[in-house]
Amino acid sequence: MAHDHDHSHGPLEPPAQAAEGNVVVAMLAGLLIAGGSLVLGAAKAQQPHGGAHGGGHGDHHVTAPVARGRKAAIATAAPEASQAGLDVMSRGGNAFDALVSSSFVVSVVRPQSTGIGGGGFVVYHDAARQQEGAIDGREVAPETAHPDMFIDPRTGKLLEGRHSDYFRGPRSAGVPGLVAMLYEVYQTLGSKKISWSELLQPAIGYARDGFKVTPGLSRQIKKYREVLERYPASAAVFLPNGKVPQPGSTLRQPDLAKTLSEIASKGADGFYGGWVAREIVDSANAEFVETTAVFSEADFANYQVGRPEVVRGSYRGHSVVSFPPPSSGGVHLIQMLNILSGYDLAKLGHNSEQHVHYLAEAMRLAYADRMELLADPAFADVPTKKLIDPAYADKLRATIDSHQAGKSTQVQGGALLGDDTTHISIVDNQGNAVASTQTINTGLGSCFVAGKSGVLLNNEMNDFTGHPDAPNAFGARQSAKNLPEKGKRPLSSMTPTLVFDAQNKVKAVVGTPGGTKIITTVLQIVSNLIDFQHSPDHAMSAPRVHHQHLPDVLYLESGLSGVRRGLAGRGHKVKLLSKERAICNAQIVVIEAGGERVAVSDPRGTGKPAAE
Ligand code: GLY
Repeated sequence: MAHDHDHSHGPLEPPAQAAEGNVVVAMLAGLLIAGGSLVLGAAKAQQPHGGAHGGGHGDHHVTAPVARGRKAAIATAAPEASQAGLDVMSRGGNAFDALVSSSFVVSVVRPQSTGIGGGGFVVYHDAARQQEGAIDGREVAPETAHPDMFIDPRTGKLLEGRHSDYFRGPRSAGVPGLVAMLYEVYQTLGSKKISWSELLQPAIGYARDGFKVTPGLSRQIKKYREVLERYPASAAVFLPNGKVPQPGSTLRQPDLAKTLSEIASKGADGFYGGWVAREIVDSANAEFVETTAVFSEADFANYQVGRPEVVRGSYRGHSVVSFPPPSSGGVHLIQMLNILSGYDLAKLGHNSEQHVHYLAEAMRLAYADRMELLADPAFADVPTKKLIDPAYADKLRATIDSHQAGKSTQVQGGALLGDDTTHISIVDNQGNAVASTQTINTGLGSCFVAGKSGVLLNNEMNDFTGHPDAPNAFGARQSAKNLPEKGKRPLSSMTPTLVFDAQNKVKAVVGTPGGTKIITTVLQIVSNLIDFQHSPDHAMSAPRVHHQHLPDVLYLESGLSGVRRGLAGRGHKVKLLSKERAICNAQIVVIEAGGERVAVSDPRGTGKPAAE
């Protein structure tokens, strides 16, 4: 399909590098599939609530799960993980200790979202040193990776099929980074009042003794049953007695418990060296005995976490600190905030037609740049400084028509439910704050459990560009800059973010799962808190919108039916999501003016915050 050049980009004459973002390549039609950004539970989130917070049309919300405390607060997607984190802080551990313990728990009890076979990012504020930092535990492409590894040599096109190597199985996995990332957190930021081994005990218990299967996990196992059945170790874990586990039943992962015990006693070496790494390498390679191996032991032994500089922006007197490339999250969050800073959003009314129009146009422009410019900066030239420069945002804003929608290339699309990725937000009594988004990519990752290690591997290789003309699982088209290469990190949307007030005190810790919808959801929560002075509950619960340039569709949660017609009249291609579909599953902690910590879990999911 020919590209319909985006007129909103046309007249722009930005700095040379950023201008590349405005040249959009011809596109094939594609589907927004698998996108883990939509989770069940919207009906709950969007029942009308006649509260005093209402702004614009359709701004309905319900109360989200909230926990308040003077000392410490944590929000995660699993009650077991929030409790483990709070227990650590009650025993004198800090927010970073709590992150380690709760991350391992969530990695066991939400295998549809995260796991030690995956990776993640951390953004933190270290209160003692008064500094912010980032830790990059993103998966890395193995030695065997190459740019056309997902291209069918016979057709020159992306490998066919939703369960091809690009989407599922060991070849879709990068070398996991989660364990190395959490070990780095422990070693460099942990209080050392609680040992590494102790921090892992709750997770080991849930793996060995089992946990209660949630409806979401049961659904994901049912959805991917056919792929899980291909691999005996996957079926043994996720299809006990050959059946999909029912919600409320107990799921045990005894092999994973042994692997976690090895990590507890040996630190990161317990995962990247010795029998665990060997088992992962051998079991993955056994699937490809007649072709090229997937991993080598060196891939694991050589894994290194990154320590990149955070990206910083300012928004109406607040500072925003977020994750830099290889995530696109922080860059485009700041870019969109810069664009929106030119409008008096508070005057427009929250989720009014005009507000949603400006949101959609800012999103369209930012994601057009994402498609062209973002990749691992160790391998590609990424113009981060230009993209977060307010002057560049001024030029982009000048191209936005206040009434009419811009035009992206027309792409057929439709969103399916998913349950990928997870986020943890924590603040402790010393003022440390940490945001970490963790993932195995789409629901149940690769669906490949690596033999006796019990480790479910990610399918993060799908975040690389499989073919420059084809979308990934999130319907995202990405440039050749993001093709797979040995040692490269796939482009991410994860956006763990800290917001500071005018006095430079931490105001909010924000993040969410949701693939490409992560960045736009973090944007709306931050804007809700700052522009609309929403309570933490309201900022979280308010209906959300999403646009990612291509496909050229403006997604509205069902609570926004009131503005649908008006937005369509402006030329937006609106898709009103059904009540069963919701955008993302965020977890936030807000520090209120009096110092109270308020942890809020998204009512769209089943998380539960904890505080003391
Ligand atoms: N796997 C989702 C992301 O990193 O954006």
